[in-house]
Formats: sequence, structure tokens, C-alpha cells
Amino acid sequence: MAGIPERFSAFRVHNDSDGYRSGIEEISLDDLNEGDVTIEVAFSSINYKDALAATGKGKILRRYPLCGGIDVAGTVVESESDDYAPGDPVLVTGSGLSEVRDGGYSHYQRLDSKSVVPLPEGLSLREAMALGTAGFTAALSLYRMEALGQSPDQGPIVITGATGGVGSLAINILTRAGYDVHAITGKVSEFDYLEGLGATQCLSRHDLYWGQKPLETARWAGCIDNVGDEMLSGLTRVIKPFGNIASCGLAGGISLQTTVMPFIIRGVSLIGISSSNCPYPVRKEIWQRLADDWKPPKLEEIANKEVRLEDMGDTFDTMMRGGALGRTVVKVGNG
Ligand SMILES: NC(=O)c1ccc[n+]([C@@H]2O[C@H](COP(=O)([O-])OP(=O)(O)OC[C@H]3O[C@@H](n4cnc5c(N)ncnc54)[C@H](OP(=O)(O)O)[C@@H]3O)[C@@H](O)[C@H]2O)c1
Repeated sequence: MAGIPERFSAFRVHNDSDGYRSGIEEISLDDLNEGDVTIEVAFSSINYKDALAATGKGKILRRYPLCGGIDVAGTVVESESDDYAPGDPVLVTGSGLSEVRDGGYSHYQRLDSKSVVPLPEGLSLREAMALGTAGFTAALSLYRMEALGQSPDQGPIVITGATGGVGSLAINILTRAGYDVHAITGKVSEFDYLEGLGATQCLSRHDLYWGQKPLETARWAGCIDNVGDEMLSGLTRVIKPFGNIASCGLAGGISLQTTVMPFIIRGVSLIGISSSNCPYPVRKEIWQRLADDWKPPKLEEIANKEVRLEDMGDTFDTMMRGGALGRTVVKVGNG
């Protein structure tokens, strides 16, 4: 284990007789779960799910204690896998991190090689985490929509929760892929930001009125929804024939009230997006595209905030208030 210090810092989440709590601790490699690839972590990121886990506002971890952080990127320092050798740059998003395995908020991490993705050419370790689960989710949504025939000539795609991590990256990725993108946001003060990412129309979520009929006038050819609840319920009524709705998030709630009419009359498809459980071959293919033709041109602008492990608290709170704007990268090591 030459090169790995005996003790290093990590952001750990506990839930025991002393209550639910999270924070920085000094740990050793033996405190981490087993894994056949050990990495020195360079960067992680902050996603909505990380904020839920850190604050205890959502039940994300399924065992305790664990390091937080559903994303990680770094360099292999030890490997029992034939697929990886010391010095290889790698990343993992989702795949049970900060759920059933220790996550990326640690200076070293032991990973399961079955979920490790070699850093694709065209991305730095920082860029991989600027994208992170949010970018992967946006790209997975587009990937699955296009698998069902979505194409730019069908008309505009609307993105909800537009100023957040998934929303911002979805706008920029879809714009690059040739789509006309509309944005729905709660932050009317950020219309300029959204237009800068490519949105051709911005709507305030507070001014939306969907109508109550099972089918209302169709406005969009597809949708990537980060909000759920009334937003998703309303969207099912206004998507054009053979359009697709990628259901990603629950920032506004988890319920869904609709009828079969959008599905059997308009042929609308409701696609479930689960970035954490995405099959490995698709995962690798999507990361290749994120490094290539789906790399968002405004990535640095979207992810211009960087914090250290010790300073993540404010970002967690902002996210829980619905105040996220773009992405926050966590600088862990020297990557
Ligand atoms: N399915 C998956 O695999 C997957 C992967 C990643 C994320 N997600 C989910 O997708 C959502 C977005 O994640 P993220 O990391 O992008 O989070 P984020 O950066 O915190 O963005 C969430 C955005 O949602 C909007 N929002 C927040 N509270 C709201 C409310 N009460 N009602 C309506 N809109 C609200 C806000 O955007 P505006 O102010 O612009 O409206 C906010 O910026 C989360 O629910 C997350 O759990 C799912």
C-alpha cells in the first residue's frame, strides 16, 4: 500500500443511536468497503441526491456509515482487476455509491471494477465530475428518447428544473445535438443564463397553466422532467404525438396523476430514467458520447463553482431550498 497514507479525510454519513449526522472524519483504508480497484480521488460533485443524503432530508443510504458522494473521478493506485492498472484515470457515477457502497467524498476510495469507467479521451477528470451524474442523466435521457425515435424535426423539447445541474446540462447537450430547447424554471432572474446555454424560450413555472382535460393543446415534442408531481402530470397532457417524456426527478414531489389518453391517443411514451442502475455497456457508450459529440460546449460555465470536502455544507442547503444554479464540483485531491 505504498503511497496511501494511513489516515485521510472523508465526508461520512452515520445513522445510529446517536442520531443521523454527517461530516468530515479521519479514516483509514480499512474503514472503506472492499473493492478490487483503489483510487486516489481527484474530484467528486454535488447532486441533489448528495444533498438529500448529507442533510438527512431523504433516505438515500441503505447502510451506515458510508462516505457520501454518488460521483467520483481519480487515478488508480492499486488494482486486482486485469482491466485497470496504477496510473489509469477512471470515473464512477451512481452504481450504488453513497447508497450501499462508500462514495466519492474521500481522498481514497475502493471501487468495484464492474462499475468503473475508464476516463474517455476528450474529458479531464474535472470535466468528468463537472458532468457527473447530472450530465450522465441528461445524456441517458436523450439516448433513451432517441432510441424511441425522437428527432429534432419533431419540434421543441422542454426541460424542467432548468437551472439545476441536470436541467442546465440537458439544455446545453440537446442544443448541441440539434434540438430546439425550451426551459421551465422557478427563477425568472436566470432567463439570460438559460438562453446562454441555448434555450430559445424560457417560461416561469409559476405562470404555467396546463388545463385539466386529459389532452390539452400539444406544445412540445418531448420533455426532460426533473420536477415530478403536478409538473409531470401536466406535461403528459401537452406532448405532441409520438413524443417522449423522460422522467428524471422529484424536486417538486413524487406523485403523478394522469390518464391513459396521452399514451393511447397520442402515442406519447413515458420513459423512466435511472442513472444509478444503467447497464454497464450503455453507461460506457454514453460516457463516450459525453466526451465527444454530446460534450456540452458551456460545461465550464455551468460548473464554475468548486468547493473542497470541508466546504460542501452551503451547497447542500442551497440545493434543498431549490436554489441550485448549474453544477458544483468538489475538489478532493490534486487532480
Ligand atoms: N433519475 C435519475 O437517475 C436522476 C439522476 C440525477 C438527478 N435526479 C433527480 O433530478 C432532479 C434534479 O437533480 P439535480 O442534481 O439537477 O438537482 P438541482 O441541481 O438541485 O436542481 C433541481 C432544480 O429543480 C428545480 N426545483 C427545485 N425545487 C423545486 C420545487 N419544489 N418545485 C419545482 N421545481 C423545483 C429548481 O430549478 P428551477 O428553479 O430552474 O425550476 C432546481 O434548481 C432531482 O430530483 C434529482 O433527485 C435523478
